[in-house]
Amino acid sequence: MNIGIDKIGFAAPDFVLDLADLALARNIDPNKYKIGLLQSEMAVAPVTQDIVSLGAQAAAAILTEEDKQTIDMVIVGTESSVDQSKAAAVSIHGLLGIQPFARSIEMKEACYGATAGLSLAKSHIAQFPDSKVLVIASDIAKYGLESGGEPTQGAGAVAMLVTANPRIMVLNNDNVCQTRDIYDFWRPNYDKYPRVDGRFSTIQYTDCLTTTFDYYQKKTGQSLEDFAAMCLHIPFSKQGLKGLQAIAKNEETLNRLTERFQEAIVYNKVVGNIYTGSIFLSLLSLLENSRALEAGDQILFYSYGSGAVCEIFSGSLVEGYQKQLDQNRLESLNQRTKISMEEYEQIFFQEINLDETGTSVDLPEDPKPFALIQVDKHKRIYRK
Ligand code: HMG
Repeated sequence: MNIGIDKIGFAAPDFVLDLADLALARNIDPNKYKIGLLQSEMAVAPVTQDIVSLGAQAAAAILTEEDKQTIDMVIVGTESSVDQSKAAAVSIHGLLGIQPFARSIEMKEACYGATAGLSLAKSHIAQFPDSKVLVIASDIAKYGLESGGEPTQGAGAVAMLVTANPRIMVLNNDNVCQTRDIYDFWRPNYDKYPRVDGRFSTIQYTDCLTTTFDYYQKKTGQSLEDFAAMCLHIPFSKQGLKGLQAIAKNEETLNRLTERFQEAIVYNKVVGNIYTGSIFLSLLSLLENSRALEAGDQILFYSYGSGAVCEIFSGSLVEGYQKQLDQNRLESLNQRTKISMEEYEQIFFQEINLDETGTSVDLPEDPKPFALIQVDKHKRIYRK
């Protein structure tokens, strides 16, 4: 049975910071971000937009009423949870009005969580071919003011509908994983922002890729030459490019895949790291910005989550996949509100003030269809 991605949607907050402004404010040459990291803008989420509202927005953009009646599992991959117990998937299930007899869960392993969710969705459809699974990757990447990771922050969510006979991409059965118990990026419960061993994390990203890709080649007999494009986890675009360069031994293959890679980072460059969603945002960018792909093409994926777990897998494009996409997405991203450094520092780092009953005071108004409108006695209330 063919199982895979039938629909894919994306949501980002309305605010954007130009990284040239960040560089100037931090006394850094803007080319370090533009050329050194290959990033140009960062999506900035206000306090009223979190992984729940962004996830709901990404999913609402692709789901029909019929989908909502058929979905029986909602999986949210995230590492920027709003609750240690209640899954964001439960809130999103409620906001979207999905039929009640569904399983809703959250999955965590740094930037890898949603890839695990995709595998679980695939197994579920193999068992129940008539059902549909909603997989959402939603994260807000915040490293803190003047931190090393500051230029790689971002916010956004990707939603995917996983079904039998999908209309975008069939997931192949060639997945290989690797687990390494390391501390390259982590966030203890008592910390607001992640702790990062920046340089070590970049080395681990690439070493996990090269060793897992060796294993993948041995296990499947496939090589890079078999693929039309490669999508990688994109903490910042240069990291993905270096990953591709680390495994492409043949010059012609490297040149061809680098052309596709440039198409696959169009959105990531102006959104920033969205952790679990980054690799799927890259897929969306590739599909919506490449004119070189065609049905039947094989796409290779490298998912990496610090800590660390990674996975290499592939998918095959389906005839007519273009019809499921949005060709005006870049235009919409370009219409986001550009904010100044002062606004960025205020908006992105604003905290919710609670009174003695745990109810929010002075939460800003947010007109978006999905937004946090109040915290009421410690319960987060969203606009439906
Ligand atoms: P840094 O020390 O600020 O930067 O840290 P750098 O000195 O390494 O420079 C970066 C690049 O800019 C270098 O290029 C410089 O040469 C270049 P490279 O040599 O690497 O090709 N550069 C310039 N280029 C042009 N003009 C200039 C200029 N100056 C310098 N004037 C670092 C960078 C990535 C470590 C930092 O941003 C950081 O800590 N980021 C967060 C961690 C991260 O993203 N790690 C990536 C791998 S781990 C991962 O992907 C998982 C993650 O997503 C989390 C999860 O799984 O949940 C992070």
